[in-house]
Amino acid sequence: MKKPIVLYKRLSPSLMARLQAHTQVTLIEDLGDDGMAQLRAALPEARGLLGASLKLDAALLDLAPRLEAIASVSVGVDNYDIDYLSRRRILLSNTPDVLTETTADTGFALILATARRVVELANLVRDRQWTRNIGPLHFGSDVHGKKLGIIGMGRIGEALAQRGHFGFGMPVLYHSQTPKPEVERRFNARYLGLRELLQEADFVCLTLPLTAQTQGLIGAGELALMRPDSIFINISRGKVVDEQALIEALHNHRIRGAGLDVFEHEPLAMDSPLLSLANVVATPHIGSATHETREAMARCAVDNLLAALAGERPSNLVNPQAYQH
Ligand code: DGY
Repeated sequence: MKKPIVLYKRLSPSLMARLQAHTQVTLIEDLGDDGMAQLRAALPEARGLLGASLKLDAALLDLAPRLEAIASVSVGVDNYDIDYLSRRRILLSNTPDVLTETTADTGFALILATARRVVELANLVRDRQWTRNIGPLHFGSDVHGKKLGIIGMGRIGEALAQRGHFGFGMPVLYHSQTPKPEVERRFNARYLGLRELLQEADFVCLTLPLTAQTQGLIGAGELALMRPDSIFINISRGKVVDEQALIEALHNHRIRGAGLDVFEHEPLAMDSPLLSLANVVATPHIGSATHETREAMARCAVDNLLAALAGERPSNLVNPQAYQH
């Protein structure tokens, strides 16, 4: 008998066929009110869940007494209560590695777009306002040779450091829980305390996961340490930053600009002050959003789920404490 699973993400035909060959799939295409009702109805029988961008809290998962595994199509696992899942021996897996380079590309796109004012000036052309040669009012700032500050030196931080060091000749500064000698060797990177990094970097880039420890890590006090000509980049999670404090720092030109792919609440509210600040480039959480990478992530999640449901240890198990042979 095939195990019932709930899929709350559209898959390519080949991945769908693979999943259907091994499981009995309930597909929920849209997690609106109807979709959530469908999910609640399917949870009592579900052995597996596969999808992304849904907060699966205890109130929902208590409806799923037979659940064995959740395969998240994401690297971030802040939507899950890992202690709860481990207590229930539900295996949680994610999709690291396959999205590292693409997410670092997004980070660098935001660095370039913000420093060189690409979006603002492209809009000026589109709005037919390019009527004479541009002058200092529209100049940006250099990226090459500037100090790249990375907070959170995991896989994505390293991929960003690689781009900055080899591609743009940028001195790399970083802050993480512990120094990483190998990173320092490869990218000639310098480990700094958070305070020192904020004071020294031209670009402050967040690439760390959202956890109880990192929530609100960057607030008014931290932003006040940044240089007035520095640029803030966030490709991790919005809640790592006090968004109101960031808005004030940008509004008051305490810092030069921000490139933001993630926000405290997503989608970003239509009346967010971030939308009316010219020194902000905001993108709709596109970190890993390329055709190739999203397909690779979905494939990885399918592999993880099928392994878990077969009693094997998934390659990307987040909570090994829940795994029993
Ligand atoms: C992730 O994988 O966690 C990304 O933020 C989703 O694109």
